[in-house]
Amino acid sequence: MAHSIGILGTGVVAQTLGTRLLGLRYEVTLGTRDVATTLANTKTNQYGGPPFSEWHRRNPHATLGTFRDAASAGSLLLLCTNGGGTLDALTQAGPENFTGKTVVDITNPLDFSKGMPPFLVPQFTNTWSLGEEVQQRVPRANVVKTLNIVNCEIMVHPEKTGGEPTMFVAGNDSRAKEEAIQLLREFGWKDVLDIGDITGARGMEMVLPIWLRTWGALNNGHFGFKIVR
Ligand SMILES: NC(=O)c1ccc[n+]([C@@H]2O[C@H](COP(=O)([O-])OP(=O)(O)OC[C@H]3O[C@@H](n4cnc5c(N)ncnc54)[C@H](OP(=O)(O)O)[C@@H]3O)[C@@H](O)[C@H]2O)c1
Repeated sequence: MAHSIGILGTGVVAQTLGTRLLGLRYEVTLGTRDVATTLANTKTNQYGGPPFSEWHRRNPHATLGTFRDAASAGSLLLLCTNGGGTLDALTQAGPENFTGKTVVDITNPLDFSKGMPPFLVPQFTNTWSLGEEVQQRVPRANVVKTLNIVNCEIMVHPEKTGGEPTMFVAGNDSRAKEEAIQLLREFGWKDVLDIGDITGARGMEMVLPIWLRTWGALNNGHFGFKIVR
């Protein structure tokens, strides 16, 4: 298993995964567009939580660098960027820095430009997905789509649902999927379902509209989906 993990992103997902990985004794490097801007930002995040600088103050063992630094530093990479910024982030990171690595893709192609609830970007629905686009942009990496169907607290603590939810994995390379599943197990996932190649990302991303409606109905993000069989 990789010892150094590069997280592309500094938002609530990157922070939540970062905290958990530091607790599991991984070396963690987070990547951002501009280090100085990210550290200087004092605004609360979109959920009313503290800015990245506050998280970094509480987690001084995490390294903050550019997207390129994070992609280079990690032997396993976690893609935690905004859906609309993901492809630019890959370009900034340099696709050559992904060669031979497992890339766990947690992103969702959501468009918030018309307010709440967001909608799926049509370009990445039904016959194509952001996961497949990511795989195409970093062809020498092995992309595994997973974790995008739950709230970030549930990603790293599935037991907070009060049950044993199912997590899907989809990707073209079986060794990369094994590496991703090992990480899921460390987070506490017991029910993991391999749904095949990266085209499985289509259905996983299209789960988001029902995730959002369920969140609204429960008024709480601590839930998961279960495949009963
Ligand atoms: N929130 C959840 O619980 C949850 C659950 C499942 C999946 N997801 C998915 O996880 C991803 C991260 O979500 P989040 O809520 O943590 O944060 P977010 O606000 O969606 O994304 C923040 C990250 O995206 C980067 N970014 C934004 N616009 C960019 C652009 N134009 N070019 C390059 N990078 C850009 C930011 O870079 P800077 O660091 O430079 O600001 C930051 O690192 C999203 O795709 C989301 O759909 C979220």
